[in-house]
Amino acid sequence: MEATTVYNVHSPFVFKLVRHLFTGGIPKYLTEMYDVQRKAYLTSDFEIPNQDLGAGSNALPASSFIKIKDIASTAMSGKYKLRLLYLLSEYFSPDLTLELGTSLGMSAAHLACHSKQVITIEGNPAIADQAALLFLRLEIGNIQCIRDNFDAALQYVLPRYRPDLVYIDGNHTYEATIRYFKLFLDQCLTEKLVLIFDDIYWSEGMYKAWDEIKNHEKVTLTIDLYHLGIVLFTPEIIAPRHYKLVPYGMKPWHLGFRPVSN
Ligand SMILES: C[S@@+](CC[C@H](N)C(=O)[O-])C[C@H]1O[C@@H](n2cnc3c(N)ncnc32)[C@H](O)[C@@H]1O
Repeated sequence: MEATTVYNVHSPFVFKLVRHLFTGGIPKYLTEMYDVQRKAYLTSDFEIPNQDLGAGSNALPASSFIKIKDIASTAMSGKYKLRLLYLLSEYFSPDLTLELGTSLGMSAAHLACHSKQVITIEGNPAIADQAALLFLRLEIGNIQCIRDNFDAALQYVLPRYRPDLVYIDGNHTYEATIRYFKLFLDQCLTEKLVLIFDDIYWSEGMYKAWDEIKNHEKVTLTIDLYHLGIVLFTPEIIAPRHYKLVPYGMKPWHLGFRPVSN
């Protein structure tokens, strides 16, 4: 069975969620505030120490210092993805959101709008400082930024905190992605847990990881939004388990939405 629009999605749970992602939006005053910040980042010649922390950061120039505008143009999420993150956090209203990969803080700022608390991890302390300044400037008080390697930080974060929404946006390798997935399954799994994987089509390894995650026996529902892959464990889902949202045609907002067979 193939559905071409959201209205052909028969699962009430999925229908509600996807309709929210289609029809929801960010309040105008917030969009304007973020646009100002985005422009400031994209034009900033300020230099900070560079650090190679894993796959996904290799689009950055190989030098010991890097301009903020170069980080912004390569690593900062685009408006479309940030809107999805905002709407996902609005829909799930998490008590605790955990983000792997703060960068300049734009995604954490969007996730924080509807999360009680956000913990975000960034391995380059100089980048984390820029994010911290953003949170201060925008008067966002519910984000804690941890300056550490993901693997090291998760060892002390997960025994203390139980995130119900996790956004994985860094170290895009097959091995690391599967490692984080298993860690969250082992240590945070509840029916409420939502995992969001960034860049699932970024490389063959990322797609392989996504395919494996989709087919894990504990996963009850996945939604492939191309830029992001959403993984849920809710028992409400019977079948189909996997959905793919595919942009098509001339109208950018006219999206096809179909369950996939595997
Ligand atoms: C793609 S960027 C994150 C973008 C940000 N979430 C956004 O949407 O604007 C990935 C970030 O993760 C950091 N990173 C990558 N691998 C890491 C690791 N193993 N430990 C800690 N930080 C890491 C990089 O320094 C980079 O700033």
